[in-house]
Amino acid sequence: MDKDFKIGLLTSGGDSPGMNPCIRAVVRAASVNNAQVLGVKDGFEGLINGEFHPLGVRDVGGILQRGGTILQTRRSTRFLEPHYQREAIRNMNSMGMDGLIVAGGNGSLSGAHALAEQGVKVVAIPASIDNDVWGTNMAIGVDTAMNTIMEAVDKLRDTAASHGRAFLIETMGRDCGYLAVMAGIVCGAEMVLIPEVAVTVKEVATAVEDAYRRGKTHAIIIVAEGASVKTTELAAALDAEDVGFTTRVTILGHIQRGGSPTAFDRMLAARLGIKAVQALLASESDVMVGLQGREVELIPLAEVTTRSRTASQEYIAMAHMLAR
Ligand code: F6P
Repeated sequence: MDKDFKIGLLTSGGDSPGMNPCIRAVVRAASVNNAQVLGVKDGFEGLINGEFHPLGVRDVGGILQRGGTILQTRRSTRFLEPHYQREAIRNMNSMGMDGLIVAGGNGSLSGAHALAEQGVKVVAIPASIDNDVWGTNMAIGVDTAMNTIMEAVDKLRDTAASHGRAFLIETMGRDCGYLAVMAGIVCGAEMVLIPEVAVTVKEVATAVEDAYRRGKTHAIIIVAEGASVKTTELAAALDAEDVGFTTRVTILGHIQRGGSPTAFDRMLAARLGIKAVQALLASESDVMVGLQGREVELIPLAEVTTRSRTASQEYIAMAHMLAR
């Protein structure tokens, strides 16, 4: 144990529910190991601007149940430039920072890797609702977002069924169909459209019409934001084709990123946060802590940042099989 060890901590990219319990876990695990935490405001922007604030155990009280991130987050395009990375390293050195913990999604993990390649000791934590990070079964925030989607789709089904309509419901996820496929399974959607499987408007219209012929009283179609067909264009096309149902569109949007983290996300945040501190104090660097099976493992960032996770074929098949 090193009494003087100073850990920088930042949250970056899109916020995800569970970042706050993760911050709490890092600060308290550090304290147990006599290390100090310097919170970095606004993600990598704060590293460039030198916005560091000491975080003590009392500073992270009462945040466990709160969505968002008390450290705040930004999408920093400046940090992609070597010039700004150098400024960030200079600021970290001037504060006597011995290591950095970065919590975020794929872009943030690339930023963490870039710093590690320049000699900064960095451990990363996957936190993004998209679940597109390689090397972890689940990222922090996915489970909460999934539950938010489920609650919304259940409500939309009530009105869809009452009016005999088809609802196109758009989920987030960038280029990954994980949230949409899972929503398809847990909400019993008639159809799921995801980036991993290209479809045409015509194919969707035929499938919806077929569902109408088979006697479906309404239809729920989950459209991932990165799908090959655009939600509003698809709605217009379905109405124009007369597929049996009239259509309505709901874009769930950023509501998926907010809210109190679920028990699963709080637990994951606690486990990954503690492991990240332990890894840094054990002189690990350029790694991500990830959930593999039931265990938390260290995965090289070089591997994480060169691969990306897509929706699993097994789940895609399940969603399809159950939509009879
Ligand atoms: O990565 C999380 C995410 O919510 C994606 O699902 C979405 O494409 C993107 O962020 C939206 O980003 P912003 O909040 O910057 O509009």
